[in-house]
Amino acid sequence: MKTILVTGGAGYIGSHTVVALQDGGYQVVILDNLCNSKLVVLNSIQKICSKTPVFYQGDIRDRTLLSKIFNNHSISGVIHFAGLKAVGESQSQPLKYYDNNVAGSITLLEEILKAKVDTFVFSSSATVYGEPGASQYQEDMPTAPINVYGRTKLMVEEILGDSAKANPGLKVACLRYFNPVGAHSSGLIGENPVGTPNNLMPYIGQIALGILPRLKVFGSDYPTPDGTGLRDYIHVDDLAIGHVLALDYLERNPGAITVNLGTGKPYSVLEMIATFEKVSGKKIPYDLVERRSGDLAEYYANSGLAKAVLGWQAKHGIERMCEDTWRFYSQLGAQGS
Ligand SMILES: NC(=O)c1ccc[n+]([C@@H]2O[C@H](COP(=O)([O-])OP(=O)(O)OC[C@H]3O[C@@H](n4cnc5c(N)ncnc54)[C@H](O)[C@@H]3O)[C@@H](O)[C@H]2O)c1
Repeated sequence: MKTILVTGGAGYIGSHTVVALQDGGYQVVILDNLCNSKLVVLNSIQKICSKTPVFYQGDIRDRTLLSKIFNNHSISGVIHFAGLKAVGESQSQPLKYYDNNVAGSITLLEEILKAKVDTFVFSSSATVYGEPGASQYQEDMPTAPINVYGRTKLMVEEILGDSAKANPGLKVACLRYFNPVGAHSSGLIGENPVGTPNNLMPYIGQIALGILPRLKVFGSDYPTPDGTGLRDYIHVDDLAIGHVLALDYLERNPGAITVNLGTGKPYSVLEMIATFEKVSGKKIPYDLVERRSGDLAEYYANSGLAKAVLGWQAKHGIERMCEDTWRFYSQLGAQGS
């Protein structure tokens, strides 16, 4: 049985991917410093899969710990989720982001090469495209991120590409996610960030539980059908499967590949609110406010490459995204957390 090291595996996308890996017959070792996640997620993973991953609490910048993990386990590949992701915070604290996301990835990569692990899957983001002028993003478009967070993702993509060229044995997949939402169908794991959520669906979930009062919808005069921004929301379980397929792909193919993971079908903020209200029976009060600088009217993935090379296609639509989010939040509410 192959063993995969999942950095950031206690986090939102990481925990769903750990479930998909364990369901797919992989052994999993998680390394997470819990700066944006909670240990309880391990119990939830155990309940879903009847199997607990090995867990190390620690930092990807801790070289001694990394080398201990590679000595203790026969790791065949690494999926690297560990990173900070708040765009606003990345602008006000750039060095924190360059240190955690870029320096952290370099340390991890150095230790991977030392340990002769040959497979690396990286969590990148559609943010790397910046404002390309077209709404449909394709992997070969120029990249020009407009914030520090996006630049950290692009820098790591480039570092990995250069390293794969210099180390012909190294196989790399950079997966550019669009807007992950939803939760596992059990309702046991989902997106439950530390502090006030930065993303739409956890914010809506917390309003439904009465934790937050109202939602601000930034911009209602975009040239879109209802005036609010259109985003390519992708169910986190679809995203998780994309990682398992990327590992399968890398087993057969050397070199480096960059692939979009999005559905290609965008929904507006108001559509997300209305669908969540419908499936939950909860009212989500909101205010239409000024546009936020740096936000675009619309963007979505060209997901043709993911289908062609990984055999990946998103299965879940907006109803399922909202149903699963609500199941997760209603269970959190019942636990009083
Ligand atoms: N959620 C999104 O909208 C989105 C979109 C595109 C890309 N991504 C990327 O996907 C990855 C996972 O995102 P997520 O939404 O699951 O975020 P998350 O915050 O839920 O998960 C990240 C995990 O990494 C851990 N972590 C952070 N820095 C670490 C470090 N230095 N050492 C060890 N652990 C560390 C955190 O504790 C957390 O558990 C991130 O790299 C993020 O940038 C996320």
